Amino acid sequence: MSRIEPTVVLSPEQIDAYHREGYLVIDAITTADEVAWLRDIYDRLFEARVGRDSGDEFDLAGPDEEDAPATLPQILGPSKYAPELKGGLYRANALAIARQLLGPEAVFQGEHAILKPARVGAATPWHQDEAYWQPQFSYNAFSLWIPLQGATVENGCMQFVPRSHTWEVKPHHCIGNDPRIHGLEIDEADITSAVACPVGAGGATVHHNRTLHYAGPNTTPEPRRAYILMLGLPSKPRSEPRDFYWNTAKQTPREQRALDAKRRAAESATA
Ligand code: NI
Repeated sequence: MSRIEPTVVLSPEQIDAYHREGYLVIDAITTADEVAWLRDIYDRLFEARVGRDSGDEFDLAGPDEEDAPATLPQILGPSKYAPELKGGLYRANALAIARQLLGPEAVFQGEHAILKPARVGAATPWHQDEAYWQPQFSYNAFSLWIPLQGATVENGCMQFVPRSHTWEVKPHHCIGNDPRIHGLEIDEADITSAVACPVGAGGATVHHNRTLHYAGPNTTPEPRRAYILMLGLPSKPRSEPRDFYWNTAKQTPREQRALDAKRRAAESATA
């Protein structure tokens, strides 16, 4: 397989802006053809609800009941279910962006997909991504948020609070204080300086693991598809402990499905 050469070269101003403001909008990380290819795979994965049984597919904003339509379906690790996603210009550029922003040690750390269905797609409440992560580690990472159609305020583009990446991780709670819901919302924060970041198909936004962000509901007749790659420096154990009690309080159907799948796998391995 031939290696795909990255095409994105960030300017010194863009690199400074990311470190100063905690986010960045990039006009082009891939081509229209590749966006169409990604969109086909993406729609197929959500249609099939891949990963439902193993807890990788769930409703981020609702109690994730078996028969209720999800308003914010999410798939963790889409490339597990479509390995062809591991190739492509967008991925070569993601790594190139990470190395330009964070240095040569930067690596891929994860990926997920969040779909806002046409007209009913729910808002993604204000949160810091690190609030979902392991409290015993320190991170220097970012999410590369790739819309697979134009992203607008009306369909749920990203919105950021500039410089909030300099904050500590603030207390969060499950959406609606419902422990069955995976999605988190920050307890309180000043969002008066928030900036909405519309971006065209083929572009992307970048945000630091502590940057406070939000995406509104999708009020348009078309789905809003976002594919999110996480890249960063290897995490390090923290010397000072933290308690992300909002995660330990969760009791989500997703987690239960993941545990059940692990148990089934262990049983079949010993059978
Ligand atoms: Ni987020």
